Amino acid sequence: MKASGSTLLRYVVLTSALVGAFEPVSTAVVAGMGAAALGRKLYHYLYENCDGNWINFNSSALEVDLQAKLFGQHVATRVILKAVSGFMNNENPKKPLVLSLHGWTGTGKNFVSQLIAESIYRKGMSSGFVHLFTATAHFPHEMHLESYKTQLQQWIKGNVTNCPRSMFIFDEMDKMHPGLIDSIKPYLDYYETLDGVSYRQAIFIFLSNAGGENIVQVALDFWTAGRDREEIELKHLETALSLSVFNNKNSGFWHTSLIDKNLVDYFVPFLPLEYKHVVQCGMAEMHAKGRTPDMDVVDQMARDMSFFPKEERVFARQGCKVISSRLDFYI
Ligand SMILES: Nc1ncnc2c1ncn2[C@@H]1O[C@H](COP(=O)(O)OP(=O)(O)OP(=O)(O)O)[C@@H](O)[C@H]1O
Ligand SMILES: [Mg+2]
Repeated sequence: MKASGSTLLRYVVLTSALVGAFEPVSTAVVAGMGAAALGRKLYHYLYENCDGNWINFNSSALEVDLQAKLFGQHVATRVILKAVSGFMNNENPKKPLVLSLHGWTGTGKNFVSQLIAESIYRKGMSSGFVHLFTATAHFPHEMHLESYKTQLQQWIKGNVTNCPRSMFIFDEMDKMHPGLIDSIKPYLDYYETLDGVSYRQAIFIFLSNAGGENIVQVALDFWTAGRDREEIELKHLETALSLSVFNNKNSGFWHTSLIDKNLVDYFVPFLPLEYKHVVQCGMAEMHAKGRTPDMDVVDQMARDMSFFPKEERVFARQGCKVISSRLDFYI
């Protein structure tokens, strides 16, 4: 049927009326959808999510950071770079990454954990996916052991369910109750899933002074023999470290099967720091405080610090730990 002129006109008027009627609605819908998308984008931009926007491993940034900011730890630098890069670049790891960092006080164990976190999470240590536990602060009373166990297990399970790429740092591991260490063991193992949750993307970092004295002894032996500190390799420290960790009854590791079940992927030794490293820390700290690094000031501060063994005065007793506050007296 052919449309007559008037029918056609009526049709045009009707459709344009319809379009007119629908236009504001569709605009509102489109605008609404646009606003929602924008809102979502803004939300993802402003609020941390478990996605590539917020969690994105940067291997070269980690390498640059370790090389530029961590002083005197050539062995730890090498091991950590290899361990973290290898794990993060593996799309299908068979177990979570478990690192155990050992060494004398103030040698950079917490500092390195922070650098690792910063290389993975945009918010670094402030990320909601990075969890730091300190034995004496979070699990102080042995009589609450059973409730600590349940809470810790629920915390790990809940957080890994929420974000598989979660990081758990346990500080003062040598002061943690063996039973508590035992309770997290299943999460470190090779299971595909546990109660439907896979822990294979997670990262566990244990920090302790366990084995610190043996590491110092190896470093001192090298120093006494007139050998270069940089000649120290992982193999020189590995045996001493694992034996000492085993044999130290005060260390929680002793009681657990973390080691004989091979749940720890890497033992990372931190060497005691020497005078020159303390100076490097001092210069970096002055820079961090917004001052022009001044060698005279830093040298003065370093000379007043305590070194051991008493005779040789080779290693800084407190490492670089007190430098930030010490410096204020000298500036
Ligand atoms: N090797 C290092 N290179 C650069 N800075 C360091 C190093 N070691 C320590 N520092 C500085 O000293 C501060 C304290 O060190 P950190 O807390 O990492 O020591 P630690 O090894 O965890 O000691 P502890 O065993 O007493 O807990 C760091 O925040 C960092 O500023
Ligand atoms: Mg520490």
